[in-house]
Amino acid sequence: MKVAIIGASGYAGGELIRLLHHHSSAKVTCATSRKLAGTPLVSVHPHLKGFTDLNFENPDTGTIDVDVAFLAVPHTAAMTYAGKLVSRGIKVVDLSADYRLPKEIYEKVYGVTHTDYFPVPYGIPEFHRKEIINAICVANPGCFPTGAALAAAPLACHAHTVIFDSKTGVSGAGDNPSATTHYPNVGDNIVPYKLTSHRHLAEMKQELAFLGSKAKCFFTPHLVPVNRGILTTAHILLNESLDQKEVERIYHDYYRNEYFVRYQKPSLAAVRGSNFCDIMVESEGQRVVAVSAIDNLVKGASGQAIQNMNLMCGIKETYGIVYAGMLP
Ligand SMILES: NC(=O)c1ccc[n+]([C@@H]2O[C@H](COP(=O)([O-])OP(=O)(O)OC[C@H]3O[C@@H](n4cnc5c(N)ncnc54)[C@H](OP(=O)(O)O)[C@@H]3O)[C@@H](O)[C@H]2O)c1
Repeated sequence: MKVAIIGASGYAGGELIRLLHHHSSAKVTCATSRKLAGTPLVSVHPHLKGFTDLNFENPDTGTIDVDVAFLAVPHTAAMTYAGKLVSRGIKVVDLSADYRLPKEIYEKVYGVTHTDYFPVPYGIPEFHRKEIINAICVANPGCFPTGAALAAAPLACHAHTVIFDSKTGVSGAGDNPSATTHYPNVGDNIVPYKLTSHRHLAEMKQELAFLGSKAKCFFTPHLVPVNRGILTTAHILLNESLDQKEVERIYHDYYRNEYFVRYQKPSLAAVRGSNFCDIMVESEGQRVVAVSAIDNLVKGASGQAIQNMNLMCGIKETYGIVYAGMLP
């Protein structure tokens, strides 16, 4: 299959190229950047020297000749590409927020008008596999909602309240420098932000509801001085007490057949560079603490996007994305 990456100069785009190099059924033939069109891809991704000789090109939906396109562009940009590519029969995995929520919720949460809405499956394969298999376009989930939903899902229907507290690495903000990501502000520091109003909360609520939960849902993120990774602590307040043995059994049963979800003490290093989500739970009766760790650029973005591509294209779901994490 020929693959295009729209937004290949960014972090998620670079990660797609790194991972797809090992995918023998998919070859990246088009990598776009408007600012860097004509320059070698390795000029911004030096770690990929020897793995690609592509030059960046301008994104042109009329001429891109591929089977699959990944949209690794900001929200509002993706909606200008997705429909046009789909109408040409090109399968699309959109890593932005543009198709993750119903139109009216998206417009309210993001404060913009959606100019080309059509419903598509939400791409957490562990929950939406059946819809993804038949899709021509998939909305790859937000990085926080991926780790949060995977942490809480097994107990979602037993809970009246779920509180997500997440710590994220700085690459989650993309490669555009800002005061927030400026080293003296990030290094040797931990900063909470959007204490009650982060946009990803809408996706978390959507996923809990999809899983049949009536639980109230809250979310507070923190920026921590690491490049990659999201550690999410989910405080799951149950309707009835469950002891440790029962809770562990529920998690083991729930994820028994899920290759990318591992039951073990989570740490960012153990999942770094990999598509795994490590989860562990501890019960104290009516409160269960579930903690998950993912790499925001892999299971939280590009790895999960390839997982979705595999499903959409009839390829083994794990193909090309089986990597161990990088510890230490
Ligand atoms: N970083 C993460 O951990 C993460 C996790 C999950 C999801 N995501 C989502 O994935 C997307 C990409 O994230 P990122 O962190 O890789 O961002 P990034 O580092 O800022 O890169 C953005 C890319 O999009 C291109 N771009 C920007 N505006 C464009 C437009 N109007 N048309 C075409 N290309 C455009 C940029 O290149 P040019 O401007 O030169 O064209 C660049 O290649 C975002 O929607 C983000 O929310 C990111």
